[in-house]
Amino acid sequence: MTTVLEWPGKAAAFALGRRLIDSAIPGSHLGESDGKPGPHLGGGDAKPGPHLGEGDHGPHLRSDDGSIAVPDPRDNLLVVGDNLPALTALLATHRGSVKVVYIDPPYNTGNAHTYKDHGHDHDSWLSFMAPRLLLACELMREDGVLFLHLDDRESAWAQLLGHEIFGEDNSLGTLIHQRAKGGGNARSFVRGHDYIHVWGRNASLVGPFLTEKKSPAKLEVIDGRRMLVETDVLRAGFGRYARGSERRLMYEDILSVKGAKKLAEVDAKLATGEYILRPWDDAGKHAVVRVTPAEKASSKMYSIIKALGGQNDLDPLGLGGVFSYPKPVELVKALVDSQTFFDPEAIVLDFFAGSGTTAQAVMEANRRDEGSRSFVLVQTPEPLRSKNAQAVMGVGAAGGGRDDATAGGEVTGVTGDGTEAAFPTISELTAERIRRAAEVHAPGLQFTQLDVVSVVDGP
Ligand SMILES: C[S@@+](CC[C@H](N)C(=O)[O-])C[C@H]1O[C@@H](n2cnc3c(N)ncnc32)[C@H](O)[C@@H]1O
Repeated sequence: MTTVLEWPGKAAAFALGRRLIDSAIPGSHLGESDGKPGPHLGGGDAKPGPHLGEGDHGPHLRSDDGSIAVPDPRDNLLVVGDNLPALTALLATHRGSVKVVYIDPPYNTGNAHTYKDHGHDHDSWLSFMAPRLLLACELMREDGVLFLHLDDRESAWAQLLGHEIFGEDNSLGTLIHQRAKGGGNARSFVRGHDYIHVWGRNASLVGPFLTEKKSPAKLEVIDGRRMLVETDVLRAGFGRYARGSERRLMYEDILSVKGAKKLAEVDAKLATGEYILRPWDDAGKHAVVRVTPAEKASSKMYSIIKALGGQNDLDPLGLGGVFSYPKPVELVKALVDSQTFFDPEAIVLDFFAGSGTTAQAVMEANRRDEGSRSFVLVQTPEPLRSKNAQAVMGVGAAGGGRDDATAGGEVTGVTGDGTEAAFPTISELTAERIRRAAEVHAPGLQFTQLDVVSVVDGP
């Protein structure tokens, strides 16, 4: 049995997504327009924008100087505008090229700009997400993955929607993000975690999710290379060892304890450089040590990821408290790393960019292995209303936002004092965060900011 969701507006939402995909044939964004507005999704009843998919009318990207932009897929990009036309426009240049999509969409919105604290309008949310997920899938590489980060308000619906869009066979599972600890004034229980649903465009082509190997290996620089060093690879026997007694099997004892076959195995690895010998005890014997280049030393990612905070990442950039509930860089970096561990040129997309956490995560992932992963972020220029927004430029702001364990990720808190924000819009904050993070983590980083235009103005 396959369970699919039904909701009013579903057919229109899927039709819109498909029409936008079909409309985005290369070059179609360069056409003329009838001047009518582009695609919009409001409420649960998605209606396609006029003339989309009918030839030459389509969303496109625009540079500062007003000219049509055709970015290189390897560029670091911030696209300012609604992600529906933005994703459509990106199809012209990025179709099939994105390795990782990470999104942390607003909950319960049928309108890109509204956050509803009360009431659960699943229909609107599903109609809002469906065409965007269809477009995202189209932008992904065959071995691409999408991480959809949600709290439990929309999680169940989102999972069924994702199954329908990607195919249930392409579901890779659900990760838990532990984002808080400790108590709070919750009515039922204190929620300290979110869900991250994961799909592959073609799950059979998606490699293991990897993380940097930590214990029991230690990092050492050997002949100028960062290597993970494991001194414990050969044991004298199974089981427990008395405290203080040597459990390692010395190279000189392999033959007598484990036999000629084991010695030949170890010798073969010594010959390839996978093992080295290290003087170990006073008797002049040697331990067998496994050395692995640090960049290759990975283990499988665990399904529960603990990463608290997110504000803590903004504080050192002088942006603390400007944006409510940014996701922790550590979390997004772990997700990016997990699928690009050996893919240092991968393209990473986040079309609900918020404070730009994903851009910083990509920069930090590149730092690990001197990679050149690039990011594509999309963010609407909606007003930034967090209470500390105006206090930040130059001086930095203290605290900010609620931090109870039940809070979800969205821009909240309204300016109480009526002063003007230093960042009038969220997208301006996104751009500034990218610049400030680059100063620290990726000096000299180039990034391009573009607008999205739903239709081209007629002549
Ligand atoms: C939950 S926040 C993402 C926070 C982000 N992960 C971070 O760490 O800062 C969702 C963001 O999506 C943006 N957004 C909502 N609807 C959008 C749309 N249609 N197009 C582009 N951005 C949108 C909101 O303005 C908000 O900044």
